[in-house]
This record gives sequence, C-alpha cells and structure tokens, in this order.
Amino acid sequence: MTHGDDRRTSLDPSTLAVHLGRPEAPGAPVNAAVELSATFRAGGAQTYGRDDNSTWDAFEVALGGLEGGTALVFGSGMAAIAAVLETVAVGGWVVAAGDAYNGTRRFLADAAERGRLAVRSADVADTDATLAMCEEVASAPNRRSSGGMLWLESPTNPLLAIADLPALIDGAHGLGLTVAVDNTFASPLLQSPLEMGADVVVHSVTKLISGHSDVVLGAAVTRSPELIEQLRTRRSLHGAVPGPMETFLALRGLRTLAVRLERSQASAADLAERLMARAGVSGVRYPGLPDHPGHKLAARQMRGFGTMLAFEVSGGAEVAEAVCQSVQLITPGTSLGGVESLIERRARWSGESHLPPALLRLSVGLEHPDDLWWDLDQALVRAQAT
Ligand SMILES: Cc1ncc(COP(=O)(O)O)c(C=O)c1O
Repeated sequence: MTHGDDRRTSLDPSTLAVHLGRPEAPGAPVNAAVELSATFRAGGAQTYGRDDNSTWDAFEVALGGLEGGTALVFGSGMAAIAAVLETVAVGGWVVAAGDAYNGTRRFLADAAERGRLAVRSADVADTDATLAMCEEVASAPNRRSSGGMLWLESPTNPLLAIADLPALIDGAHGLGLTVAVDNTFASPLLQSPLEMGADVVVHSVTKLISGHSDVVLGAAVTRSPELIEQLRTRRSLHGAVPGPMETFLALRGLRTLAVRLERSQASAADLAERLMARAGVSGVRYPGLPDHPGHKLAARQMRGFGTMLAFEVSGGAEVAEAVCQSVQLITPGTSLGGVESLIERRARWSGESHLPPALLRLSVGLEHPDDLWWDLDQALVRAQAT
C-alpha cells in the first residue's frame, strides 16, 4: 500500500488481507509475480532459491501484517511446526495440548522417543492443570539449561476445546517458558495470539488461508528478531521451502479470506444449531453454541467462532462411517478450510484412538447452508437406517 503508516494501522484486517504485499511501483503488476528462479545474478540482495524468493516476500508481508509480526512461509504446516519445535534445545521440555493436531503430537512423540525432547500433554481447556504441569516442567533440574515451550492450539483439532490464551501465555511466561500457538482453526482474521503475548504463531496455510484445497503450505509468525533468524536458518538447513507457485496461490486465497470466513462461519453456526435439535445426534461441538464450555472464552478472545464443528452420531463408528459414505454434496475426506465442505470420522486414523469413535468433524465450506443441511440430514437418515 502506498498511503503511509498512519492510514495503514487504521484499516480493517479484511482490507489489509486484500492489499498487503502488492507491488507498489508505478506500472507494476497488481499481483506479486511467481518468481520461478533457483538462482540470482550475484551482487544483489537475493542469492539462492532455498533462501530467497520474492513471491515468498509478498505472502510474508501480507500474513505478517495480519498476525502483527514477521512471517516466514514454509513448505507445509508441519515444516513450520517442526522448525518451531526444533528451536527447543535437546533435552528441553514441551508441554503440549493433549488434543493438538495429530501431526504435532506425532512429531513430539517421535522427538520424545529419540530422547530429543521431554514431552507432557495437557488439557489446555483446564488452565490451572496446564499451568501446574508447566510449573512442574519449569522446576525440572535440567530445564533451565535446555529451555521449555508451551504448545497451544485453540480451538483444538478436532475436539474444538478453547484454551484461555492470555492466562496460559502469561502464566507460562512467568515460569520462563516460550509459548507457541497453532492458529490454523481460527485464522489470522479471527484470533491474534501475538497480541495476547504469544512468542510465535504457526499456521497450516493449506487450510483456511489458501482456502481452495489446492496447495500444501505453512507459516510461522513472531515478533522476536532472534526467533525469526533461528526459524529462517531452520527453513534453509532443513530445506523445507515452499514452491513459488504454491505461495502465489496461497496469497490469492488470502485475498478472499474475510468473505469466505463470513459465509462459512455463518453456515457452521446454522448447522450446529440444527444438529443440536436433530434426533440421533449428540455432543455437538461448536464454540459459538452458548452451552459450549469455552463459549464465553471464545467470545472474549476470538472475533468469530470459526468454520469447524464436530458431533457424534448414535450407533457408533459404523454409523458414523456410513454417514461419510452417504453424503452426496459434502466431500468425505481429510483436511479443512476449503471452499468445499469436508466430513470425516477422525478416529479412523491411528493416533486418534483417544477420540469418541462416532465423532464426525465437519469443515464447513461455501455451499448454501440449506443444501448442506439437506445433505447431512439425508446422510443421517440413510446411515441410521442401515
Ligand atoms: C491444526 C493443524 N495444524 C497443522 C496442520 C499441519 O499442516 P500441513 O498439513 O499443512 O502440514 C494441520 C493439518 O491438518 C492442522 O489441522
């Protein structure tokens, strides 16, 4: 944008999502180019494609502006998560959300098994219990030399639990821990963990930010100059770099995030209400529902309740699978945050055995809510009749 910082700070995030990261010189294209070059002529700022790319820069300016920090784009959400967790020194501790994303838990379990990290899992919806665990970790004899991290996710995937981010961040900082927040489910438009004091935010850009299920990409955002340099080094040394074309598509997706969110979360709220009243359905989890245990907290720390919901069907895992086979419009499949709605029984995955077997996770897309309800209802009728 070309109008100076005074105007920029007063713009709504939905406007910033449209404008940040665009070339500004007279005659420039309105979209950052897809820079398809592995190397650069010597003597300039850019050197080699594993370290620099101007399409990355454009995306990083936009995401960093929305999250309120400096962003680094990675080849996937897991690459960003791995880079952040690798900043904890060997022998350090990580207290992590017990129902965090499966891949994060698998990464931590692997690091624990190899003796790289000591890992504890916590119910992050229980602030006192989580901080008590952090305190135990902070007083461990080897902790001070190796460091420690609290890994938060809110809402969690797939149980949609809400963590009290300001209280947990504050408490963990008081104990000397670094705090990371996976902000994938909320997106930068619905929740700002850095403003609540978090040290670093990660995203699976694959999901809401890209929004069209056509790229795999990740990002980390921080206000700490030391941390950004550590993460940049990790990205280069691990080689977990994003493709310029994927980054271009992610930035194009980010441009429409606000309007996609508006439609999808209105539909998610509508479907959650209808599911609550539907026979054969129980345990509807959507933070926008007044009886969700984290509803008040979510209303305080989020600017909307999101596009994800989960519910259980009576009849067990078989009926839940039958619902996934019976939908005609909603796509049965993993992932989330795309324009098309997706449904899956999460407990079908190894590593998800702690989940209720008949729990279905629904990622609400842009279809008309009446069409989505028609589809869910007919799938429930068919699955529960078999
Ligand atoms: C909350 C959350 N974080 C991180 C990831 C990992 O992202 P990616 O698949 O882009 O590596 C996922 C993927 O589903 C996720 O749901």
